[in-house]
Amino acid sequence: MLDLKEYGIDMWPKEKVQAFRKALLDWYDANKRDLPWRRTRDPYAIWVSEIMLQQTRVDTVIPYYERFLHHLPTIADLAKAPEEVILKLWEGLGYYSRVRNMQQAAQQMVDDFAGQFPTTHAEISSLKGIGPYTAGAISSIAFNLPEPAVDGNVMRVLSRLFEVDYDIGLPTNRKIFQAMMEILIDPDRPGDFNQALMDLGSDIESPVNPRPQDSPVKDFSAAYLNGTMDKYPIKAPKKKPVPVAYQGFIIRNKDNQFLLEKNNEAGLLSGFWSFPLLEKGAVVDKQVSLFEVAEEVVQLDIRQSFTEYYDMAVDWQKQEFDTVQHIFSHRKWQIELVEGVAETTKLLGTKELKWVSVEDFPIYPFAKPQQKMWEAYVKKMEQ
Ligand code: ADE
Repeated sequence: MLDLKEYGIDMWPKEKVQAFRKALLDWYDANKRDLPWRRTRDPYAIWVSEIMLQQTRVDTVIPYYERFLHHLPTIADLAKAPEEVILKLWEGLGYYSRVRNMQQAAQQMVDDFAGQFPTTHAEISSLKGIGPYTAGAISSIAFNLPEPAVDGNVMRVLSRLFEVDYDIGLPTNRKIFQAMMEILIDPDRPGDFNQALMDLGSDIESPVNPRPQDSPVKDFSAAYLNGTMDKYPIKAPKKKPVPVAYQGFIIRNKDNQFLLEKNNEAGLLSGFWSFPLLEKGAVVDKQVSLFEVAEEVVQLDIRQSFTEYYDMAVDWQKQEFDTVQHIFSHRKWQIELVEGVAETTKLLGTKELKWVSVEDFPIYPFAKPQQKMWEAYVKKMEQ
C-alpha cells in the first residue's frame, strides 16, 4: 500500500478517525438530501444515477434518472434497446459515450452474469465504462462493501482536511486520495460515508462560495484551522476549449420539411441527427487560405460546397441569425446559420439524409448544439 508519509500526509490515529466518521455520519443522518437513488438498493438504478451524476448536477439528473428507469427498468431492457432510444433518453445530458458504454456493460451482464448485476468489486470494475470512482460508488452504496468512491468533490474535501499539496486534476495523484479514503472510510456504513463526503463537497465545501464555518468536520480540517482554505485544493487551471467555426444549414423543402442528417462518424455526437453542418476552415482551406478571402467570398464558397457535398440545389435566403455557440469540454463550436429552400425533395449522394416535419422532430435524437440551432432559427422566424 502507498505510504502517505512519503507524500507529506500524516494520517490521524485510530480514535481520531473514529471521531471523524461519527461527526460526518451524524451530520449526514440529520441533513442528507432526499434523492430518488437513495430510496433504492437496486444496483442497476444506483449505477444509472452514478453515471448520470458524473458530469451533471443533481437537479438536472433527477428527471432524466426517473425517465430512464421508467423506459428501461431492467438490465435486459437496456441491453436490447435501439441506439436511438438510448440517445433520446440521454438527449441534452452530453458525454454520450456514457450511455453507449452502459449499454455494452448491460450486454456484458446478460452474457457473463446471467443478466444480474455482479456483486463483487472486481467484477463490477470489469464492466465497460465503470472506472474506479463508479465501481467504488456502486460497491459501497448497493452492496455495502468498504470501497472508496473518489471524485473531484471528495478530493477537494480531503485536500482541505489534510492540506494535501498535490494537484487534484492530475490522474496520477488519485492514488493518494484513494489511499487516504481506505483508512478513513467507515467499514460499517461505507455507502453513507461516501455519499456524506459527496454532499459535503457539493455544498458546504463547494468550489464556489464554500461555507467552511458550517462544516460538521471543521475541527478536523487542517486548512480551516490553519487559515489556508484559499490554498486548497491545489488545482491547475484547465486548458481553454479550442474554437471551431461551422456553417449550419437550415434547409426546407416546398412541403415545409427540414433537412436532417444522421452523424454516422465515430466520435463527438455520433448517432445524432443534425441540420447539416460544414466546418468553415476545413472547406475553405481546400481552395484558398482563410486570410486571403473576404467574408463574402467565404460565404459563397461554403454554399457552393454545400451544393456539392449534398448534391442539392438551394435557393439561399438573406435572413441573418444569431451565432449559435456551444462549449464541449475540449471544443467551442461557433455556428453561423444560413437558411435555404431546396429546389427539389430528392435526396441524392451517400449521406444519410431525411426530410422531417417539425411535428416529427421529437422522434430524432438532437444534441444541444442542434437544439440551439433550432431555437435561433425559430426566434428569428417569430420576430
Ligand atoms: N454525486 C455522485 N454520486 C452522488 C450521490 N450518490 N449522491 C449525491 N451526489 C452524488
